[in-house]
Amino acid sequence: MKVLVTGGAGFIGSNFIFYMRKKHPDWDLLCVDKLTYAGNLETLAPVMDDPHFRFSKTDIVDRKAIFSLFEETKPDVVVNFAAESHVDRSIENPAVFLETNIMGTQVLMDACRQFGIQRYHQVSTDEVYGDLPLDRPDLFFTEKTPLHTSSPYSASKASADLLCNAYHRTYGLPVTISRCSNNYGPYQFPEKLIPLMIANATADKALPVYGEGLNVRDWLYVEDHCAAIDLILEKGKEGQVYNIGGHNEMRNIDIVKLILQALDKPESLITHVADRKGHDQRYAIDPSFIHQELGWLPETKFADGIQSTIRWYLEHEDWWKNIISGDYQNYYERMYGNR
Ligand code: NAD
Ligand code: DAU
Repeated sequence: MKVLVTGGAGFIGSNFIFYMRKKHPDWDLLCVDKLTYAGNLETLAPVMDDPHFRFSKTDIVDRKAIFSLFEETKPDVVVNFAAESHVDRSIENPAVFLETNIMGTQVLMDACRQFGIQRYHQVSTDEVYGDLPLDRPDLFFTEKTPLHTSSPYSASKASADLLCNAYHRTYGLPVTISRCSNNYGPYQFPEKLIPLMIANATADKALPVYGEGLNVRDWLYVEDHCAAIDLILEKGKEGQVYNIGGHNEMRNIDIVKLILQALDKPESLITHVADRKGHDQRYAIDPSFIHQELGWLPETKFADGIQSTIRWYLEHEDWWKNIISGDYQNYYERMYGNR
């Protein structure tokens, strides 16, 4: 089996490559990544010399390059993680989100049509459903919840999902889609809530909480997400959407306090800053469909996963300090300087 993994130098894609190496050691994995600010080749160092692994620095929007790569390598399965993934950046500059997340998806599916494929899997997000009100804890996102997006990021992801459905129905492309809740774990870029707060707390820097910090996210350990995608590749039904989540809702402020406690740092580091524009209130996945259909259940409890994630960041300071010492400083200044 030959699996083409796009966005494999990013957070979830790299964890997926490591997961698949262990789970299917004889499968060939081809990682395609443009190496944007969010892609880091150092992350993939442990697999670079593996004879079953190959890396190609390619932009998924580059039709010519993607088609020649497909012609040369003839993948059996494509798993598309490649995306611009940060909501705040999409608010600052939406254009690249539309290019990569929508046009890139189209290029990949066109290549699948041209060269044939057993499965095209689109890694989507629960953000395509918009948000739920904080005062209705009885409501959850199911696969039937209408798409109702808030940010340019989520609008671009929802557009890609619609395109996947269209390619399935119109051309019979064997597509599956997964919509997962917020992931946490090793190798997450330090612009996202959990690693940003760990990095700032260890440096005794202010922890910028948007608004009151009462927004709720539904957190899943990244390896559980990877296991769900592997299961969908194996047993998923073509044309089907699968929601992935572990019923683990937390308020942002509680996560931040938990990180401070684990690092033995004072809550006085918390700084409430201007809220994100159009900030989604609550995400909450109903994962009963993937459980009933495919038998998937998450394995990592949040209490364990968050502690091991904090430990990982403490033990891999080089990995993230390298990142935050470069151009990321300019982003941080733009995003938080006058907030
Ligand atoms: P990430 O930002 O950490 O990584 C994205 C990767 O894609 C990077 O390696 C980057 O270099 C690469 N990339 C970007 N543009 C590209 C292009 N044009 N061509 C090739 N490669 C390109 O993102 P992540 O958090 O790992 O998310 C991966 C996927 O999972 C995304 O599609 C995202 O929408 C989805 N998702 C993320 C979460 C989450 O909590 N992080 C939850 C649900 C779904
Ligand atoms: O739900 C899945 C989505 O989760 C993915 O599709 C996205 O790619 C991923 O980035 C994530 O989106 P969020 O916007 O939920 O994640 P983020 O880490 O940016 O923010 C989580 C919450 O924390 C959100 O309510 C905003 C808040 N926040 C974030 C940052 C970076 C803060 O209060 N302060 C911060 O500095």
